Amino acid sequence: MSIAFKHVDYTYQAGTPLATPALTDISLTVPDHGYLAIIGHTGSGKSTLIQQLNALLKPTAGEIQIDQFTITPQTTNAALKPLRQHVGMVFQFPESQLFEETIQKDIAFGPRNFGASIDQANQLATTMLDLVGLDASYAQRSPFDLSGGQ
Ligand SMILES: Nc1ncnc2c1ncn2[C@@H]1O[C@H](COP(=O)(O)OP(=O)(O)OP(=O)(O)O)[C@@H](O)[C@H]1O
Ligand SMILES: [Mg+2]
Repeated sequence: MSIAFKHVDYTYQAGTPLATPALTDISLTVPDHGYLAIIGHTGSGKSTLIQQLNALLKPTAGEIQIDQFTITPQTTNAALKPLRQHVGMVFQFPESQLFEETIQKDIAFGPRNFGASIDQANQLATTMLDLVGLDASYAQRSPFDLSGGQ
């Protein structure tokens, strides 16, 4: 999956007296299978930038290319659904987002919300556990037994 930002701006509450510019003219590329670390002062816009990657926030100017998806200020939410199915985000305190009694159910919550059947979602959960290097014995354990990194 390759990522390209082209002259991206993001302003919170754009067009109101409370407008706060957070990103100004950001251009960057991340090649397929690449890694990118973003560092910067508190308030410099790191969280605002990563929320563009699955379009939790859309740019107020410029363009973002993620594989075959193009996000501009005009892109509709309907057009973004396939992108949101594709791009995951791990938040700063993932522990506080866990809520099911088993790890399998917690993972299956996402696909269930995208219309998968229980069987399909459980199958995906098994696949995803394997993808991140956790063996099948984790499926029925409590998500609160995981370490932060896991
Ligand atoms: N929901 C919001 N409404 C208005 N302004 C916001 C909002 N969220 C962030 N900002 C502002 O946008 C700018 C960038 O904030 P952001 O959260 O992206 O910074 P950050 O680099 O992630 O900071 P930290 O290192 O503290 O997590 C800051 O000036 C912040 O005050
Ligand atoms: Mg942040």
